[in-house]
Amino acid sequence: MSEYPRVEVREGLASIIVPDLSKYVVGNRPEPAHAPVFYNPRMEVNRSLSTAIINGYVSYIGKAGITICEPLSGTGVRAVRYAREINGVSRVIANDISEKAYELIKLNVDRNGLNDVVSVYRDDANNLLLRVAREGGCDVIDIDPFGSPPQPFIENGLRAIKDEGVAMHNGDRCGCFIG
Ligand SMILES: C[S@@+](CC[C@H](N)C(=O)[O-])C[C@H]1O[C@@H](n2cnc3c(N)ncnc32)[C@H](O)[C@@H]1O
Repeated sequence: MSEYPRVEVREGLASIIVPDLSKYVVGNRPEPAHAPVFYNPRMEVNRSLSTAIINGYVSYIGKAGITICEPLSGTGVRAVRYAREINGVSRVIANDISEKAYELIKLNVDRNGLNDVVSVYRDDANNLLLRVAREGGCDVIDIDPFGSPPQPFIENGLRAIKDEGVAMHNGDRCGCFIG
């Protein structure tokens, strides 16, 4: 049950339910950080670029069954887009520590018909990354803290990457890196 106003948006191949940002305005502008679950429409281009970069990586490495972990998922928009738009993706792990975010990610995964592809967790990102590392890692680790520094998650993010994998940091403090 939704206890806050929500709207549907379309991004790439995904249809996503997000908080209605018109209700969370500071000055003249919507403030994503004030919404119950973080969604920043201005990062759509960033999400599209990340999708293009991962598809470039998939084509370069020539591997089928790519696995992707997004430990800071918010609404799940990025994870859902990866599940729908990355060529040959076999599994996406979406996670958020916030209960409202976790519930919204599950809803968005379900309404996009991705229950078999996207696994959704509610955990601290570092716990999740360590678990992923213990279970063999993922090909792509995407850390998207936006306005917060990524440092707390970098070390375990690197532990959770498979050999020849890609670590991406998406946010307003730097672009992305490949390792
Ligand atoms: C910038 S938002 C994610 C945006 C999302 N990746 C997107 O593309 O729309 C960061 C998210 O990280 C979550 N978060 C913050 N600290 C966390 C932690 N220690 N573990 C897991 N999630 C965390 C917040 O609840 C928030 O939803």
